[in-house]
Amino acid sequence: MEPWEAPPADLTDPATVALYDELPIWSAPFGLPLLDAVELRPGLTVLDVGCGTGFPLLELAERLGPGARLHGVDPWAPAMERIRAKVRAWGLEGTVTLHVTTVESLQLQPASIDLIVSNNGLNNVADLPRALASCARLARPGAQLVFTANLPGTMAGFYDALGRALDGAGVVDGQRRITEHIRARRRPAEELVALTRAAGFDVEDERIHGFRWSFASAEALFRHHFIRLAFLEPWRALVPEEARPAVFRALPALLDRDTLRMEIPFTCISAHRR
Ligand SMILES: C[S@@+](CC[C@H](N)C(=O)[O-])C[C@H]1O[C@@H](n2cnc3c(N)ncnc32)[C@H](O)[C@@H]1O
Repeated sequence: MEPWEAPPADLTDPATVALYDELPIWSAPFGLPLLDAVELRPGLTVLDVGCGTGFPLLELAERLGPGARLHGVDPWAPAMERIRAKVRAWGLEGTVTLHVTTVESLQLQPASIDLIVSNNGLNNVADLPRALASCARLARPGAQLVFTANLPGTMAGFYDALGRALDGAGVVDGQRRITEHIRARRRPAEELVALTRAAGFDVEDERIHGFRWSFASAEALFRHHFIRLAFLEPWRALVPEEARPAVFRALPALLDRDTLRMEIPFTCISAHRR
């Protein structure tokens, strides 16, 4: 069958609808500059680090078309199952290979990858220098690396209010806890660039972008499914258990309109393997 002869998607089929969305609204703003920065050519061999539920792995598989080979690596097994279902539904078998492991321990032929992408994936690994060393080992000379990462200013207004709530609850090392929490999750852009260079890549482009997550109330913020999935537990963990009721009860009054419009600064870095 020629590509233009494919039957229309059956929008009444629950299996089609179940696979319709592919990336959380959180991931999408990061993904647009990333897709803009990648240099697409037919026949590329691609690695997506931290492909989660399939972005940008599957979008790139479709944009590159037949002849491309894509590898997705992520230790999150149930998410990889979801990708597998999409690969079957979209006819991408033979194009996409999934590796349920970490990028640090990924076994692929050295110098075999033309394009490495990571949408908010590399900044979530346990050991970034080791992960970048693994990328450098797998990249052929001249290969492109494009990745996005949110920056230390992420939700700064929220952390400011949390700091005041910790002070109010008499937690003496509240500010240190917040600084360490941010430091462990979000590296400054200059540091990401320096680590990328140290791993053996020439960085050509490092841009700062941003978007905003707004909520009507603190209650809406804490109930949002993605906040519960990715943020709430780490926020809870940085408050000593005995102070949690006081801190979380005080927070709504400290989160004013501006801190509920939370800024998410991020960087998109494009580099080539030396
Ligand atoms: C914020 S999610 C991003 C997922 C997807 N790229 C997106 O844009 O929606 C970060 C992903 O990195 C994965 N991850 C964490 N440590 C990893 C590692 N060492 N190697 C590969 N992936 C890892 C997580 O399991 C998670 O799926």
